[in-house]
Amino acid sequence: MRIIFATGNSKKLDEAREYLEPLGHNVELLIIDGQPPDFIEPQSSELMEVAISKSKQAINMLSESEVMNCAILVEDSGLFIDSLNGFPGVYSSYVFETIGLDGILKLMSEERKRHCEYRAVTVLMMNGTRIVTTGVCRGKIGENICGDGGFGYDPIFFPDDSNGLSFGQMSKSQKSTLSHRGKSLKALSEAITHPSM
Ligand code: IMP
Repeated sequence: MRIIFATGNSKKLDEAREYLEPLGHNVELLIIDGQPPDFIEPQSSELMEVAISKSKQAINMLSESEVMNCAILVEDSGLFIDSLNGFPGVYSSYVFETIGLDGILKLMSEERKRHCEYRAVTVLMMNGTRIVTTGVCRGKIGENICGDGGFGYDPIFFPDDSNGLSFGQMSKSQKSTLSHRGKSLKALSEAITHPSM
């Protein structure tokens, strides 16, 4: 299947390709007027609402004829820290750009309960049908920055069952087997292959 991914995040595109291309799907970046799409961030505390809003925006950016032939993929994700009541959550991107990894480590410096999770919501629009899938990856916020792989919070995110490695210390394929994005894309590819499930 030809899947057009509407994202401005090249790392998300790489990870989607890592997962979906071996399954026979071709993942391309949505480019409009030479740029990836620039979404209006809806005011919502729910990833699902944000992802569905972005999916509708992506469809509206395309003409009817283009939409008819393509599957349009949108994904929204974030890091939810238990002891901070889910912060930064839907604000993960903004918080990363403003206070960064050091800011999160500082916020957590006195905290012994370091459990958190990454969440992803994936929305695929295909021939007027919407497929929505989700993925969660539980883990802990580390004490220090470890590794320089992945993106965003990966160097401080230690997934459960990872033998003490952060996502920042893993290869793309290692991360994909454990990650929220990998799980959400797995559910998506199953839904595409077996539409009635
Ligand atoms: P959005 O989905 O484009 O709104 O951005 C999600 C934000 O959450 C990213 O910019 C990262 O800061 C963070 N995030 C989501 N998934 C990951 C991941 O797999 N690794 C690291 N950070 C992530």
